[in-house]
Amino acid sequence: MGSSRMLLLLWPLLMGLGLEAEADLDGEAYGLDNRLSYVRRENDAIARLYENILDVLQCRLPRESGAQIKVGKDALLAKQPVQDQNWRSPKGLGQVSGVAIDPAGRPVIFHRGDHIWDFDSFDEENRFTKRMDGPIAVNTVLTLNPENGQVEDEWGSDAFYLPHGIYVDAEGSVWLTDVALHQVLKEGTAEPEPSLVLGERFVPGGDARHLCQPTSVLVLPGGEIVVADGYCNERILLFDPMGRLLEQIPPRGNEDMLRLRVPHSLTLVNHNNVCVADREHQRIVCFNLTRTLEEGAPGRKEQMLSWLPLVIHRPGACRIFGVTSHNNMLYAVNGPTTSHNPVMGFTLDPENGSVVSTWAPTFDSFSNPHEIAACPNGTALYVSEIGPNVVWKFRLLTNWKM
Ligand SMILES: *[C@@H]1O[C@H](CO)[C@@H](O)[C@H](O)[C@H]1NC(C)=O
Ligand SMILES: *[C@@H]1O[C@H](CO)[C@@H](O)[C@H](O)[C@H]1NC(C)=O
Ligand SMILES: *[C@@H]1O[C@H](CO)[C@@H](O)[C@H](O)[C@H]1NC(C)=O
Repeated sequence: MGSSRMLLLLWPLLMGLGLEAEADLDGEAYGLDNRLSYVRRENDAIARLYENILDVLQCRLPRESGAQIKVGKDALLAKQPVQDQNWRSPKGLGQVSGVAIDPAGRPVIFHRGDHIWDFDSFDEENRFTKRMDGPIAVNTVLTLNPENGQVEDEWGSDAFYLPHGIYVDAEGSVWLTDVALHQVLKEGTAEPEPSLVLGERFVPGGDARHLCQPTSVLVLPGGEIVVADGYCNERILLFDPMGRLLEQIPPRGNEDMLRLRVPHSLTLVNHNNVCVADREHQRIVCFNLTRTLEEGAPGRKEQMLSWLPLVIHRPGACRIFGVTSHNNMLYAVNGPTTSHNPVMGFTLDPENGSVVSTWAPTFDSFSNPHEIAACPNGTALYVSEIGPNVVWKFRLLTNWKM
């Protein structure tokens, strides 16, 4: 059946759902998501087609009134992040897929050198096809001076194939995800070998021992490891500090509880809420991790969770690539989604999902932002891009004296 004919047949369904969707557009889209899950059970192909249409429609809605990008003093007054003019992005970087902050408050980036992710990087089973080309020869992990962007430390040559996410934990250990390796690696500061590895090298999979193009990693105050897995599995995994799987979201057998489409970036809000940039769904999803761990305790028979996640789905936000938080506020960056959606940063209130402000570089613009990280003392935000390959610094105004 041709897709236009499919669309015609689908139209009454779209109208029926569309009306409902419209009512939900301005807020959290629980109703809509539940409905989509239902439709998907009935017919997966139709649900996916409908989702794609809906996504494009939502992305094309004008952004909210009052959410204009302000510059200079106006931005200061509006408490928007403002580009730091003293900062210089390092030269000669590959795609800067990841940025994180170390315990000293310095940005640490993960970049792809001369490797890029193109259409034939993976085969149909998600296996990396360019292993023969060898790993990236240059240093891929760079620690930068937070004032001026100069490289202060660098390592990670001849080890990675397609870098993605980076996280630095409270001890200064660096956690990296490589989508070609299908692994998460914990790199200590002293020893040459990773001190913990999740997933099997170059082997994609969806069970407890395998990952598939994992995107992002986060370590909780108790040492538990949260992994966004990823481009093909579309699940969030929780591991204990030794790397044993504790729980997965959505729970096995109850995938309709929370459908994710490319969980791309993770952050922690309010100590126990994990928020995920659910990229292709153009939304941020937050869930109570304490409750997840309690309810998913071993021995529990039915893999159901009694709670609903918070779904932040704003019209005009489009595909959300990166999310971070400071002081119970979310900061996110979107990316190109339609031919004319504005690419920008968002400040969001996680209590009700409202957009507090939108922002962008003052004298330039974002092209392909990929990840964002907030300095724990609340003075800076860093955004990395994958073309042009740059790192931006913004002054975060929460701690600015006026
Ligand atoms: C915040 O952290 C940065 C990076 O370590 C540091 O340069 C700056 O002085 C700190 N600012 C405050 C107000 O603590
Ligand atoms: C998370 O769940 C725990 C345990 O059920 C509960 O005590 C806590 O209040 C919840 N936190 C939030 C922010 O909802
Ligand atoms: C969202 O919550 C914040 C406080 O948590 C409040 O200041 C703001 O007015 C709320 N926005 C909306 C649209 O309800």
